[in-house]
Amino acid sequence: MGALADKPYTALAEVYDRLMEDVPYDEWVAHVDGLLRELPGAPDLTVCDLGCGTGNIALRLASLGYGVVGVDGSSAMLAQAARKAIAAKLWLNLMEQDFRQLNLLAPVDAVVSLYDSLNYLPTQADLATTFRAVAANLKPGGLFVFDLNSPVRLRDIGGRTVFLIEKEGFALRWQNRYLPHRACWQATLTGSVREAGGSLRRFREVHREYAHEPGTVGDLLAVSRLELAGMFDGFSRRPATAETGRLVFVAHRMLS
Ligand SMILES: C[S@@+](CC[C@H](N)C(=O)[O-])C[C@H]1O[C@@H](n2cnc3c(N)ncnc32)[C@H](O)[C@@H]1O
Repeated sequence: MGALADKPYTALAEVYDRLMEDVPYDEWVAHVDGLLRELPGAPDLTVCDLGCGTGNIALRLASLGYGVVGVDGSSAMLAQAARKAIAAKLWLNLMEQDFRQLNLLAPVDAVVSLYDSLNYLPTQADLATTFRAVAANLKPGGLFVFDLNSPVRLRDIGGRTVFLIEKEGFALRWQNRYLPHRACWQATLTGSVREAGGSLRRFREVHREYAHEPGTVGDLLAVSRLELAGMFDGFSRRPATAETGRLVFVAHRMLS
């Protein structure tokens, strides 16, 4: 295999859920469910899971009775989400779209984007475009909840570390770096996955999560018709502090 990397979330889609076994999705979704239940019309609501990946959040929301649209830029991740939805007999409307070109069939009551998905946007302009697209696809008063790895955390996890992960059917070398000139954490994943037919598929993916200062994010929301209700320390009701690793933003689409 050459030095060229595959697009992020291509081969990784196959093993993503096994890498994320310890992620507290149930807790996160319970918190989001609490916020959704504060909206008028709850619980009969439509929710867009922006960056739905393999559907871990979208499926939990669907099982709570919400009408869910899952949007992601990776067809391989969406294929996993579709497979899981069929197995769970849950309905998900899945769309392959870039965050910046979000265009739903009808405005939704809420947009949620969890687990660093928006950190993949490199620039402030990309964030601003995404926020405008979110506002355009939300009903007035609708909820927008998203998280970001904070600049502090991206610097911390980006120290030069290497992990070797071996599980049934795949092996992975995971190398972290922080690139100060690009304000981003870069993870280079090199591995092999055993495919259904038994052959090994080798892959290399480079993932980059960009640091966005919380104050700037708040300013960009305000100019995108999204009113910030709070910036929290993880999925809690505690306000974020300078040490917060996972920033959770809660905003509402302005009424006019
Ligand atoms: C860390 S994963 C999170 C997936 C899911 N929310 C979860 O919690 O398991 C980030 C997801 O964002 C998607 N993504 C990143 N940048 C994107 C973009 N510009 N447009 C659409 N999807 C994007 C990736 O394909 C990936 O599925």
